Amino acid sequence: MNVRSLGYLGVQSNKLDAWRQYCTDFLGLMDVSSSDAEQRYRMDNQAWRLSVCKGEQEDLSYVGFEVSNGESLAELRARLESLGYHAQRDDELAADRGVIELWRLTDPDGLQIELYHGATDVSECRFVSPTGVKGFVTAEEGFGHIVLYTKDIELKKRFYLDGLGFRLSDTMTLGPAEVIFLHCNTRHHTLALAEAPVERHLNHLMLQVAEFNDVGYALDKAMEMDIPITASLGCHTNDRMLSFYAQTPSGFDVEFGFGGATIGPNWSVAHYNSASLWGHKRDALMGSTTPD
Ligand SMILES: [Fe+2]
Repeated sequence: MNVRSLGYLGVQSNKLDAWRQYCTDFLGLMDVSSSDAEQRYRMDNQAWRLSVCKGEQEDLSYVGFEVSNGESLAELRARLESLGYHAQRDDELAADRGVIELWRLTDPDGLQIELYHGATDVSECRFVSPTGVKGFVTAEEGFGHIVLYTKDIELKKRFYLDGLGFRLSDTMTLGPAEVIFLHCNTRHHTLALAEAPVERHLNHLMLQVAEFNDVGYALDKAMEMDIPITASLGCHTNDRMLSFYAQTPSGFDVEFGFGGATIGPNWSVAHYNSASLWGHKRDALMGSTTPD
């Protein structure tokens, strides 16, 4: 009855032209947009996984979490209800997102969460990356991961751990911030939470490529396109992801990585005092720490 994976993300921005260039020419996502008001991008056999809509937020506007089937979704809703979180069925939104059944609610910081099952699979149309990315690591592990800011870490933990069924991977002290890393499948973390007085929801999202060299090609692309590299190439302490960070047109970052650790049956929780074994050096103008 737990969330199975991070299925899709919605971003709101006023910089749609810059986002299109960022997603296609840099990230290598496949543009499958059908209107000027909303861009949609594919990264695998799912009909879409990232949406960028016109709006004022310059932030994450919704998160889609996949559940295995209708029975699991009903059980998950019942548990959320028992904790005081009320979800609403939205058939119109389900049709728009291309899923069989969808229920929406907001998390403790007001972020729209969409719980669904039955995403549209378009395997008959091959995924082709415009930059030649061989493939993104998705499938059972889902989209990638997101790191969210929160005003109240205890409330946020209650929602994601007790409500949605995420489990603790590890914790990290980064300067004044405590960051907790949570998993819902074998990906080391699908979600991380950091308490900070920041107005936006999203610190960064992570895309994982299947081939080591695709990280290097993307790094070259970012430099060619003058995209700000907000953390240099490095390797994280906890999930051992080899990655770099690049600023999106909305101001938050994308972590572009390869080779993250996976969670096995004998996983034990650890605590870290540093985000990286090496690298991930920040531009002096961009702040001093990056939650993994
Ligand atoms: Fe990350």
